[in-house]
Amino acid sequence: MCFCFQIRIMEKRGGRNQTPIVELILLGFGNGPELQPLLFLLFLMIYIVAVAENLLLVVLVMADVRLHTPMYYFVANLSTVEICYVSTTLPRLIGSLVTGDRNISLQNCFVQFDFYIIFANAESGLLTAMCIDRYLAICHPLRYTALMNGRVCCHMVASAWIFAISYTIIQQIFVLQLTYCGPKAIDLLFCDFGSVNRPFCGAIFITMQRLTFVFSIILNVGLFLLTLTSYICIIVNILRIPSSTGRQKAFSTCSSHLIVVLVFYVSVLTVYAVSAIDPLPILHKIMSVWFLVLVPLLNPILYCLRNKEVQQSLRKSLLTLAAFRHR
Ligand SMILES: *[C@@H]1O[C@H](CO)[C@@H](O)[C@H](O)[C@H]1NC(C)=O
Repeated sequence: MCFCFQIRIMEKRGGRNQTPIVELILLGFGNGPELQPLLFLLFLMIYIVAVAENLLLVVLVMADVRLHTPMYYFVANLSTVEICYVSTTLPRLIGSLVTGDRNISLQNCFVQFDFYIIFANAESGLLTAMCIDRYLAICHPLRYTALMNGRVCCHMVASAWIFAISYTIIQQIFVLQLTYCGPKAIDLLFCDFGSVNRPFCGAIFITMQRLTFVFSIILNVGLFLLTLTSYICIIVNILRIPSSTGRQKAFSTCSSHLIVVLVFYVSVLTVYAVSAIDPLPILHKIMSVWFLVLVPLLNPILYCLRNKEVQQSLRKSLLTLAAFRHR
């Protein structure tokens, strides 16, 4: 796939007596040698913490039988996506902060972009699945166990991945027909062609742009409405619970998810709003760091700190580990 892509660029560019772009420059944080070591340490730490936290959550869910419920399967799957997500973007950024080498081949850039799109879509798919799960648990508690079993949960996780991967394949089929004709130096931290202004030339680029625009509006508005209605129903149902401990208990099972969803959507919307009104580039960069880093860092913290079952499971594992070492 990558190989064909290069040939296509050669063919199309060759006629116009122009050197084809096969390598891009990711400007990243720009030229600030004195800042590079600091940024390197910062991002390295963020990366390690994000991977460790998410891995811990996955291991906890897998190891503890009490956490073998659809809700925690979704949480563990979300953490897996999060690990993949930070691993497509941060290692390269960290590497270029060390070496100062900001070149990246066009093919690698596309590979990074594709994986980024897959994981971002899988994440929104999983968040939607989690929303449906909470909706069923709170609004239809009597039918919950019948409706939401291991198999259904498995199907929902699979659908999120199938959706994410097929979306990316379709997009890639379009992109393969096009020539890259954006700037050689792009002022981004990673290859997000979505925020490059007019990255491609070719007759079908306009069609592709319209299609993805319409599709993403339908999809995002759809997901958003679904989430919103579920939460309205959830809140109405919670308010109807007579005892305040019951209310608290019901709310605590979905408040972590609500915060995660809010953080996710608010970040996405802010990043796009910021890039649409196009203010200072530095602001855009801060926003994209926020989005790259905040969501993966925050999810496990929200689920661990706010959730009694996860806390208990963590405590038990630590005790077992301590006992094991004392032997
Ligand atoms: C993801 O969800 C599936 C289906 O429910 C589950 O079997 C699997 O263990 C989950 N993955 C992780 C990493 O927990």
